[in-house]
Amino acid sequence: MLARLAASRFLEIRQVFRQVKKILSHYPSNYKQSAVIPLLDLAQQQHGGWLPVSAMNASCNILFNKIIEVAPIRVYEVATFYSMFNRSKVGKYHLLVCGTTPCMIRGAREIEDALLKHLGVKRNEVTKDGLFSVGETECMGCCVNAPMITVADYSNGSEGYTYNYYEDITPKRVVEIVELLRKGEKLPPGTQNPGRIKSGPEGGNTTLLSEPKPPPCRDLDAC
Ligand code: FES
Repeated sequence: MLARLAASRFLEIRQVFRQVKKILSHYPSNYKQSAVIPLLDLAQQQHGGWLPVSAMNASCNILFNKIIEVAPIRVYEVATFYSMFNRSKVGKYHLLVCGTTPCMIRGAREIEDALLKHLGVKRNEVTKDGLFSVGETECMGCCVNAPMITVADYSNGSEGYTYNYYEDITPKRVVEIVELLRKGEKLPPGTQNPGRIKSGPEGGNTTLLSEPKPPPCRDLDAC
């Protein structure tokens, strides 16, 4: 039994080092410090979505001191500056509601209220079963499909980690999404409005419906 446990731990560690090596291979040897963010991201994925100091010390510092040679304080600075690094426990599915102006005008508050009410939690709290938490994020760059949420899925460790956008969301649809995630179903990300194709207008195109005419001065002899 112990031998089996030791063997599985060994495989896990080998897997971690393979992932670390792959990340470091993206950077020139004199810029290895730039790998702090992706390495912290990996540590977060492997620690169920958040970075306690012990995880930074144990999983990051050892790696960082040995591999990319940065002082621990540099790691703490990065981890506490970027809001994508969670400094407290999150659910296996961490749901982030965009609260910036375009999403807010299009109903982000109602989306968040529906989520919090359905899950019976406050913002940044985790549900009792550990499955869900709800946070807020700033503009995620898809305002044309506002309002939107992001789902960080930590349910399958770093190997199966996903970070998907669900757009054109409604209070009803957001509750459906939660229930589908609870059943472990994979949802197609992107717009949740069946009347739209990606960021296209609802109901189809309203402009550029035919081949555009060339500009009048294209024929230089005629000018
Ligand atoms: S404001 Fe929400 S994606 Fe830009």
